[in-house]
Amino acid sequence: MNITEKIEALKKEKKAVILAHNYQRPEIQDVADYVGDSIELSRKAMSEHEAEILVFAAVDFMAESAAILNPAKKVLLPCLGARCPMAQMLTADEIKRAKVHYPHAPVVLYVNTLASSKAYCDVCCTSANAVEVINSLDADTVLFGPDRNLAEYVMEKTGKTLVPIPEWGFCPTHVLFQPEDVIILKQQHPNAVVMVHPECSADMRKVADFVGSTSKMCRYARETPAKTIIVGTEEGLLHRLRKENPEKRFVIAYKDAVCPNMKLTTLDRLYTSLKEEKHVVKVPKPVAEKAHAALERMFQVK
Ligand code: 13P
Ligand code: SF4
Repeated sequence: MNITEKIEALKKEKKAVILAHNYQRPEIQDVADYVGDSIELSRKAMSEHEAEILVFAAVDFMAESAAILNPAKKVLLPCLGARCPMAQMLTADEIKRAKVHYPHAPVVLYVNTLASSKAYCDVCCTSANAVEVINSLDADTVLFGPDRNLAEYVMEKTGKTLVPIPEWGFCPTHVLFQPEDVIILKQQHPNAVVMVHPECSADMRKVADFVGSTSKMCRYARETPAKTIIVGTEEGLLHRLRKENPEKRFVIAYKDAVCPNMKLTTLDRLYTSLKEEKHVVKVPKPVAEKAHAALERMFQVK
């Protein structure tokens, strides 16, 4: 049996499902039971009844959210090093310090945070629902972290004041995208449309025809009549885009836009993870309860 067949066999034997983020390596996306953006993976993890094991081909905070939302399941992260650097940028202490300066402002945290930080927020959001979450709040000033670019995007869309915590939180992969590169690509592909993730800079948003989460980009790509699409997000998404739209051409806006953490999940590690049932993601109960409440509030926003 090859490695993929071995993984398939183990999946059946152990009643496991593999949930993969849109940025995973192509071979991981292909062996996964479900591929999606961060909110879709959380929803899937929450509603999974049959499986006993959820293997998260993703990064730490996504697996943590699954463990919080569905504590009855064993959640595995194949590589412990698969940590989102942006999530590390905001500690609980920093949130407490910001609250001293803005005692009446609600705290909204991007899901790209650790559970220990989520425990100190009022509600979570993802890039797919951040605008709706902020609009649902009865407050004009909101503490928002850790992504400053997402905060600025949501400010533009809602007209509210979002105070970024920390001041300059960012995704090291999405800040690689520069409008100069897009302008050159537009000269090479004059009929192309441009879609970017809201973790990109404001300058990138200005050259974009569409801004949205990874799954919203997948929908836009399906629906746009354009035949060539310039993509401003981690290159892993192009595998899914090409699979779903074989007649269209996808061009990455910056060729080295790779999230090294997302790429740590390999077929070998996935196999070992399933075989040895490691690494089990556990969130201490008091933290999990508070973070659960913040995630739950997010799901209630329409
Ligand atoms: P999505 O929710 O759009 O998939 O984004 C997650 C992420 O980590 C983007 O860098
Ligand atoms: Fe974190 Fe950026 Fe990687 Fe997304 S692409 S997981 S925000 S480092």
